[in-house]
Amino acid sequence: MTAQTAGGLAGVVAGETGISTVGKAGVGLTYRGYDIRELAERAGFEEVAHLLVHGTLPTAGELDAYRTTLASARELPAALEAVLLALPPAASVMDVLRTAVSALGAIEPEPGFREQERVADRLLALLPSMLGWWRHFSASGERSATATEEGSTARHLLRLFSGADPDPLLVRALDATLVLYAEHEFNASTFAARVAASTRSDLHSAVVAAIGTLKGPLHGGANEAAMELMLRFDGPDDAERGVLDLLARQQRVMGFGHRVYRNGDPRSDIIKPWARRLEESRGDARTFRIAERIEEVMRRERGLFPNLDFYTALVYRDCGIPVPYFTPLFVVSRTAGWAAHVVEQRATDRLIRPAALYTGPEPRPFVPLADRDRSA
Ligand code: COA
Repeated sequence: MTAQTAGGLAGVVAGETGISTVGKAGVGLTYRGYDIRELAERAGFEEVAHLLVHGTLPTAGELDAYRTTLASARELPAALEAVLLALPPAASVMDVLRTAVSALGAIEPEPGFREQERVADRLLALLPSMLGWWRHFSASGERSATATEEGSTARHLLRLFSGADPDPLLVRALDATLVLYAEHEFNASTFAARVAASTRSDLHSAVVAAIGTLKGPLHGGANEAAMELMLRFDGPDDAERGVLDLLARQQRVMGFGHRVYRNGDPRSDIIKPWARRLEESRGDARTFRIAERIEEVMRRERGLFPNLDFYTALVYRDCGIPVPYFTPLFVVSRTAGWAAHVVEQRATDRLIRPAALYTGPEPRPFVPLADRDRSA
């Protein structure tokens, strides 16, 4: 890498945003100026989605109306069910969501940018239904109903996964993860969404680009990888040996480190107590003790700390969410942030098209096909 380029665009200011600050000195993580610690403690996901997509914290009346809007838009269109029925039941759930959002863009195309917030709300309402529907279909080969009674996104999700009225403690814990995942400035998937939006493309295309980007294990896929890692070990001592071995082999330990935060992820400090509480309420906190030992080893050996994905994995496990649905839950939440960035990017109406530093061969004469010889 040369002085003129930054590996992975680290530290490069790639645009302006009024949506969030990440790791800003003296300010930390904020969504439209509100501290994440207060939002996670005192607001639910719908309030945060309203703040991101519509720009303001809702009044009590607006929140009621917003919840009703989302709840009444949860039923999957028949044409979308038909697309999902054609997918192999063993498909990756992220591939299913990416395909479903793409299909929705063809079934219910965005009518124009003036409707963008309504289209974003429709996506926020449908994504949990897509997950619940897919879970049922992939297990049984049967379709299922997706419309539910009123209720928060977290409650709706838990009902879809458990088929029963969920424990209010689990609803609150899941809701906290949705608040924490909702927005994070110019992360890779949000940047992908903004690049797509900058070409004046539609919202569904921007979200498809974002889902494809979030899927990778260095980004959203880390929560699934973190859970798989914790489940590999019998106890804390075994975990310590295993992690030391991974580090000795120069492997990355998923759920640790962050491009922007270098001294700790404030979201991890919020979600870890939830993980502890849920694990202890199971009466078997062995996996939590394994997680804490991994945290200790990573801090001691590499000075690395857990990011949001690490302890969130435990919360999802305790909510009864199967591991392949962890990253898709991140999609449900982050769609609020992606949509906010698409709206903001569209307002600037400026194509994102950076330059590259060329490192290829000097100009050279064309070699005719008959004269090309690899063995020479
Ligand atoms: N496990 C082991 N080593 C890690 C690590 C991890 N999770 N994260 C970073 N490192 C090491 C790197 O290998 C590098 O070591 P080196 O200098 O000897 O090559 C050093 O720490 C610095 O890492 P850096 O390349 O500056 O980090 P980055 O900014 O490129 O990467 C992540 C940030 C998030 C991609 C990286 O920390 C990572 O891969 N984490 C695991 C995946 C994850 O949890 N992603 C979710 C992010 S919210």
